[in-house]
Amino acid sequence: MALRRAEISREIHEGSGASGRFLLEDARAGLDRLLQTHCGQIKLIYLDPPFQTGERFVMRVRVGEQEWKSGRGTLALPTFSDALSREEFLSMMREVLTRCRMLLRDDGMIFLHIDYRTHPHLRLMMDEIFGEDNFLNEIIWVYQTGGRSLKHFSRKHDVILFYRKGPAYDFNVEAVMAPRTEPRTNHMRRHVDPDGRVYRSVRVGERVYTYYDDDPVAPTDVWNDLSHLQQRDPERTGYDTQKPLSLLDRIVRCGSRPGELVLDPFAGSSTTLEAAKRLERDFIGIDRCPMALNVARRRLGGATYSLEYPPFEGEPLCEASATPGVGFYHVRLERFALEPGLLDRELSGLDGVDCWSVGYVRDGEYRAMAESARTKRAPRLAESLDAPAYAGQLALCVSDVSGRCFCYEIDPE
Ligand SMILES: C[S@@+](CC[C@H](N)C(=O)[O-])C[C@H]1O[C@@H](n2cnc3c(N)ncnc32)[C@H](O)[C@@H]1O
Repeated sequence: MALRRAEISREIHEGSGASGRFLLEDARAGLDRLLQTHCGQIKLIYLDPPFQTGERFVMRVRVGEQEWKSGRGTLALPTFSDALSREEFLSMMREVLTRCRMLLRDDGMIFLHIDYRTHPHLRLMMDEIFGEDNFLNEIIWVYQTGGRSLKHFSRKHDVILFYRKGPAYDFNVEAVMAPRTEPRTNHMRRHVDPDGRVYRSVRVGERVYTYYDDDPVAPTDVWNDLSHLQQRDPERTGYDTQKPLSLLDRIVRCGSRPGELVLDPFAGSSTTLEAAKRLERDFIGIDRCPMALNVARRRLGGATYSLEYPPFEGEPLCEASATPGVGFYHVRLERFALEPGLLDRELSGLDGVDCWSVGYVRDGEYRAMAESARTKRAPRLAESLDAPAYAGQLALCVSDVSGRCFCYEIDPE
């Protein structure tokens, strides 16, 4: 059946709990757009920009049922090239950080994740934009992954610069208290109480202070209790540079409260957005890599979220049919073939499809009503989906393995 390509400005997925948006565009353009609607409204911003490594990063994409079953992707597609000159990078960061400050609420906070390469430059830039008085911490995140160097000491930490917008900031330390990782041993006497709990005591003048070993304590600015993702970590999405959820969980908990708005202008694989979703914060992510959209759909499922992207170039072959049932339309995806030569591998059947959905187009927006995406547990894509009868133009949306999304209007037979 003939399908008509539909120009849409956003793809909407309905869920419950948190709600959010993912904008596929340059961070500066996305932040400019947000300034028109969200100036002074964002509680927490986390940024994990490129580190100036000079590397080209990829996403290991799983294609077809077998690769989803095994959890190993064989197609390495480029995601971003971390190759700006120092001058270009710092100029981009100045524009981004200035806009971030304008977007923050008066009680808001910002965490900037970097490493030794850009740290000296960005520490001074943050002081300049946010004010030295608003500096809170230079968090050292220590991890053990990766190899060891014999030419110098191995580099095993990142730096996260933590600033507030102003003195009214709302830092929720109670939400991130954790058991002490190293028990106190210095100059304190060890005791065991009748319940078997270990505690220490120390006399200072007339007073005796006691501390239980298992009492939760506030974390310091050295985070050595959150491990980086391992090679075969189940949390891995295939997106290079992905950060662990536990790291973003801590940042989102202490920097925001349920219902507040969290922003990540370099969202990558949506780690911040997933942490926000789980903790019932609303979220906005920006990234200019199309592959990030496919990861976002998987990680944000269950929440209400929109994906906002410009029209994609390309003419893949898409064939589908729609037959009316009682109260619904039965839509069958019959064929989806990528343009020859697009990937350096031939794909068969629906292998070029990462996920697809059926829904309705109205006022230039597509609303998904039923969808199918491959997962490790359910590696096979549904060949047909039912869309409830609804006022609007019946449509389907297909995302290919390279992250492009195509929306088609379809008329039932
Ligand atoms: C270090 S990664 C972020 C990883 C992310 N924190 C995660 O957990 O997956 C940096 C991201 O910034 C994006 N990026 C780089 N320059 C950008 C720009 N000017 N505008 C928008 N996104 C950009 C890249 O596509 C990449 O996804």
